[in-house]
Amino acid sequence: MALHERESIRREVDDGVYASEDLSISMPKSRFPKHEHDPRHVYAAVHDELMLDGNSRQNLATFCQTCVEPEMQKLMDECIDKNMVDKDEYPQTAELEARCVRMLADLWNAPSDTNAVGCSTTGSSEASMLGGMAMKRQWEAKRKKDGKPTDRPNLVTGPVQVCWHKFTRYWDVEHREIPMEDGRLLMTPEEVLKRCDENTIGVVPSLGVTFTGQFEPVEAVSKALDEHQQKTGLDIPIHVDGASGGFLAPFCAPDVVWDFRLPRVKSINASGHKFGLSPLGVGWVLWRDTKDLPDNLIFWVNYLGGNMRDIALNFSRPGGQIVCQYYNFIRLGREGYRDIHNACYETAQYLSREIEKIGPFEIIYGGDVITGIPALCWRLKKGADPGFSLFDFADRLRSRGWQVPAYTLPADCQKQVVQRILVRRGVSRDLAALLVEDMKRELEYFKRHPVQTPLTSEEASGFHH
Ligand SMILES: Cc1ncc(COP(=O)(O)O)c(C=O)c1O
Repeated sequence: MALHERESIRREVDDGVYASEDLSISMPKSRFPKHEHDPRHVYAAVHDELMLDGNSRQNLATFCQTCVEPEMQKLMDECIDKNMVDKDEYPQTAELEARCVRMLADLWNAPSDTNAVGCSTTGSSEASMLGGMAMKRQWEAKRKKDGKPTDRPNLVTGPVQVCWHKFTRYWDVEHREIPMEDGRLLMTPEEVLKRCDENTIGVVPSLGVTFTGQFEPVEAVSKALDEHQQKTGLDIPIHVDGASGGFLAPFCAPDVVWDFRLPRVKSINASGHKFGLSPLGVGWVLWRDTKDLPDNLIFWVNYLGGNMRDIALNFSRPGGQIVCQYYNFIRLGREGYRDIHNACYETAQYLSREIEKIGPFEIIYGGDVITGIPALCWRLKKGADPGFSLFDFADRLRSRGWQVPAYTLPADCQKQVVQRILVRRGVSRDLAALLVEDMKRELEYFKRHPVQTPLTSEEASGFHH
């Protein structure tokens, strides 16, 4: 080897990563790179850039898990190469998924004389899409059998997460979304019945409305639909969007009746990666009985070896999240989940009390175990003119790394600005107390520096849930 070559290899090995040629110039940003780069250099560049994402534990906007046990981290590593769809190649991962479905059927009180079915998904969005499609197909089949047209299906919901807007738009279903009113931010049985007719494929209450955290009254809506059926003959199913609540109420409020105990509830979705406490990328959808899942939503595939049932929208999916879901079920059991979530409810209540004391704030929802999820949501007191908007407040809190989103409510309360905190595992009482101290400091700051032109919704940074 020529001396100069040896010299250049030595330099490559000895150089600190940051003295390398790769990192002393800018890495490619748009044009597809021509050459390879040293993995250590690329790792450093990517790792450093990710620092700007901020600290996920201080992201109080997200419902999703940001705190995982080291054992889960290990299981995720061990499963990095497992494809959930290859059930024949990874039969044990498939078995863990099947166990989770059975345990969820138990948790959600599926009656023993029915045969609950379900599957994992990438999250509640995919799960609700499948639940919605099943309702649409069931409705179509019945209408066709009765010789009636199927061209104008509609879905009745309260104020819902964007996944239901996607479902209705992608599958050409009229969305009858109950607008909010000042003093009524949820669906009520009366508002539901006003919108139901023979073309209603189903009603979707949310167990944990995204905007406020409150539970919608599933039992009351179900009862109203029973009475409606007696009068009109229309048998309208319920799908519960339990994205958050599906992993809360069974542990912390078991007497709240919202699940398969109600015969009208035909399907439920929930996010394993929210209060199911698993890493990002797992949701669940379950049907009360095989007859509630139309055959034409099921695909049987034989090209992986064996004849496999496939329901989910995506084909390939990572298996680790599902493995971790099983880990959590075994690790925590009902008691463990209850203890973790109850601590979150208590912290949410503590934050509500403190926030109401320190500023011109009115708590809309304060983290009550029977009526919602461990979250809180507030607005500026009516008539208050504190010299800042909630968008300004959110902006100042970011300077200490806290992400406490401010946003406007949906129709018909678009003028109402609210701010919300999600309390998840890892948002401890001490962390919450530090946040309250920072809030006090920012309120003092606004007293000294009142905002001339308060930030508006359009100017504020995005809110993505
Ligand atoms: C009520 C509700 N439904 C559905 C979703 C979508 O869930 P995912 O993010 O798991 O797709 C969310 C997300 O926040 C939600 O709050």
